Amino acid sequence: MQMNKVYAAYFSPTHTSRTVAREVAAGTELPRKELDATLAPLPETALTADDLLVAAVPVYGGQVAPLALRRLAGLRGEGTPAAAIVVYGNRDFGHAAVELAAFLAERGFVVTAVAAFVGEHSYSSAETPIAAGRPSAVDCRDARKLGQRLVEKLRWGEVKGVRAARLRCPASGWLAQLRFVRFVLGYRHEMKRKPAVLLPVTDAARCVNCGLCARICPTGAISPGDGLHTDAGKCIRCAACVKDCPHGARTYATPFAAVLSRNFSRPKRNVWMV
Ligand SMILES: Cc1cc2nc3c(=O)[nH]c(=O)nc-3n(C[C@H](O)[C@H](O)[C@H](O)COP(=O)(O)O)c2cc1C
Repeated sequence: MQMNKVYAAYFSPTHTSRTVAREVAAGTELPRKELDATLAPLPETALTADDLLVAAVPVYGGQVAPLALRRLAGLRGEGTPAAAIVVYGNRDFGHAAVELAAFLAERGFVVTAVAAFVGEHSYSSAETPIAAGRPSAVDCRDARKLGQRLVEKLRWGEVKGVRAARLRCPASGWLAQLRFVRFVLGYRHEMKRKPAVLLPVTDAARCVNCGLCARICPTGAISPGDGLHTDAGKCIRCAACVKDCPHGARTYATPFAAVLSRNFSRPKRNVWMV
């Protein structure tokens, strides 16, 4: 088939989904257009049957980050081929690939590739590294290869869908999983007993009031001109403000970071089906 343009669409608070989407799109060597849904919903965007969509979103709690789906809801295809890509922090991508594929199919896309890439975990830090530095140069090469394969398939064959449910997450080892599940159950129990609101916080001594955190917050949880407060009702704990603060003034002391770092340190490979 004749290919026209590739659209790289993503919701990506800490930029790993963006990197993967860009690399896959670059691998296609088609003229590119970027659709960034991180800060605002996409407007109605109709793609033709000759276009190609590369959609990448983060995994939150084994599912697609809920806000990602709301932000990408304006996408429309007309039998347009699409790559459904979930990016996860080296633990597990759970149901996310199936969910994203179904979401795209409902909007008129034919999911011709499905993939799960590893990205540095949003809660990774120097003290508790979790998939630090990923996507690495090797991951980016993988992503480009996926883009290449995708256009080869489309150029020489017909637009044929893949079954996302067949994409399997690389195993973590039963002990790591057991420890994680035990931690989550204990955490939930503790939260019921003694409810607490955990939020990213600002170190006033480091904050220079540059306003960057307010500008890059996907939900507007930080008011411009007041980097010291975060609206608990709006914050989705995506860690964009923590990762992007040039002064290291924002931190998020979630107990998940240490548990994830301890139990999911073995690097997982990226998986895909074309
Ligand atoms: C609230 C939240 C929940 C997450 N849940 C998972 C998860 O279930 N499994 C996993 O492997 N990574 C999980 N992650 C890590 C992200 O999927 C990962 O860091 C991803 O690369 C972030 O994408 P982004 O850089 O495009 O924002 C979670 C991150 C956040 C903020």
